[in-house]
Amino acid sequence: MSEQQKKATVDLSKGVSATGLEDGGMLLGHVGDKDVVLVRSGSELFAVGANCTHYRGPLAEGLVVGDTIRCPLHHACFSLRTGEALRAPALDPIACWRVEREGDLIFVREKIQTAEQPHAIPTSTRPSSIVIVGGGAAGVAAAEMLRREGYDGPLTMISADADPPVDRPNLSKDYLAGEAQDDWIPLWPAEFYAEKKIEMLLGRRVDSINPTGKTVRLDDGSERAFGALLLATGADPVRLPIPGADGNQVMYLRSFADSRAIVERAKDARHVVIAGASFIGLEVAASLRARGIDVDVVAPESVPLERVMGVEVGRFVRALHEAQGVRFHLGQTVKAIDGRTVTLSGGDTLDADFVVMGVGVKPATALAEQAGIAIDRGVTVNEYLETSAAGIFAAGDMARWPDPHTGERIRVEHWVVAERMGQVAARNMLGASERFDAVPFFWSQHYDVSIRYVGHAEKWDAVRVTGSLESHDCSVAYKRAERTLAVATIGRDQESLKSEARMERATAT
Ligand SMILES: Cc1cc2nc3c(=O)[nH]c(=O)nc-3n(C[C@H](O)[C@H](O)[C@H](O)COP(=O)(O)OP(=O)(O)OC[C@H]3O[C@@H](n4cnc5c(N)ncnc54)[C@H](O)[C@@H]3O)c2cc1C
Ligand code: FES
Repeated sequence: MSEQQKKATVDLSKGVSATGLEDGGMLLGHVGDKDVVLVRSGSELFAVGANCTHYRGPLAEGLVVGDTIRCPLHHACFSLRTGEALRAPALDPIACWRVEREGDLIFVREKIQTAEQPHAIPTSTRPSSIVIVGGGAAGVAAAEMLRREGYDGPLTMISADADPPVDRPNLSKDYLAGEAQDDWIPLWPAEFYAEKKIEMLLGRRVDSINPTGKTVRLDDGSERAFGALLLATGADPVRLPIPGADGNQVMYLRSFADSRAIVERAKDARHVVIAGASFIGLEVAASLRARGIDVDVVAPESVPLERVMGVEVGRFVRALHEAQGVRFHLGQTVKAIDGRTVTLSGGDTLDADFVVMGVGVKPATALAEQAGIAIDRGVTVNEYLETSAAGIFAAGDMARWPDPHTGERIRVEHWVVAERMGQVAARNMLGASERFDAVPFFWSQHYDVSIRYVGHAEKWDAVRVTGSLESHDCSVAYKRAERTLAVATIGRDQESLKSEARMERATAT
């Protein structure tokens, strides 16, 4: 029996002693057949559902910050007062229970109805209609937030993907490994969008934007007017001009359709070459190994992931993959692909049923650029995520924003950041004037090892490893001039949450 199951045997409805439940302390128990976590924050007591609504993360192993509780797995943030999923990646609320104190005993009573309360955004500033271009992380989180905030005007999402919004990070992980079913991948069933009156135009591209006339033109020539527009077109996989790389021997991974196509090809494959030791390239390697396929990874760097995570973590990740049978060809690139034969820059050749390109992505800025919106290695947005064109916002992989934590303009390619940007952009389209100040966070999964990373460090002058990478129990701080810019952790989820909270406090005004 796991530690969590043991603790969940405490019947909170029968009363538990208040002694020992300190500020920020949590006690996992149950009320009836529901797992509940009892929380103390300052002098207040709260009782909320014990599982995160994203991937059922154990909230009792998370962190209490003020009147919020944070999930240890991917840092969703819930209100202890209302259960609302305040910050992605969870979008649905957790349940709340009434708590009563009698002497030294605390009783968790009945469930409380906590109707969603739109925040105090004046209705006078609401646009006549809203169009969202992109049906990914940022787009879907924005659409959900607009309705959550009570926006009842026309809302249209236009997505080049034929599928409704999906859990994209899963596409290189469980789904590709054959451990998640097709119906787990959509974020919501189709009815959700109908219920929320979100018009979904799927498999359709926006070809141009007219910022002054406030219209977008679709690929069938039709036009849509907007009062406010959110650009959330994400990023496109980089396509290298390698001889032979334009045939069907080469696969890319961005959409659900891409992942399905790789799964289909993987069914008969024995040997796959992956170009690029990126996060996606390496996650694909792990998933294909889980299918028993031989994998070779070819990449120009000498240590995988070194640019993002430093030499120490990079070497560790390489060893992790080698232990699972992945072969690395580093300091080399793919020079040519001719049928099954992949020729490397060093002259070696590899046999491959197919090649997966994981050589990075570039922000999808063409639409914005064409419309005369300011671009700087991404679409430039201000702290409210508005572009240089009034009423047009941008969020997600495509947007470069002024990050208060580094003091620099940054653009990242992280799921949680894209969703949080979508949420803030949504409120700002309604007139909230809320700064985007989330601490960047991402996670990556390699076999049974999850790496969590908070902050943002493009350059650092010191890396401090505390604990042991080999034992999968460590934190790695990336520092510049003694200041911690980012922290990666393995097996230390609470520490990751604490680092995030520390970085939030450091820039709180
Ligand atoms: C396989 C994979 C695994 C990943 N794993 C992780 C992970 O573990 N952790 C992590 O933090 N991040 C991960 N990421 C990154 C994360 O998914 C992205 O950062 C995130 O999806 C970005 O969200 P977005 O909304 O900006 O773009 P996207 O989610 O890519 O959505 C962009 C949308 O725009 C649409 N679009 C583009 N152009 C047009 C147009 N002209 N007209 C209409 N629609 C258009 C696309 O069809 C798509 O629907 C992963 C990415 C991939 C591909
Ligand atoms: S399971 Fe809680 S944030 Fe993912």
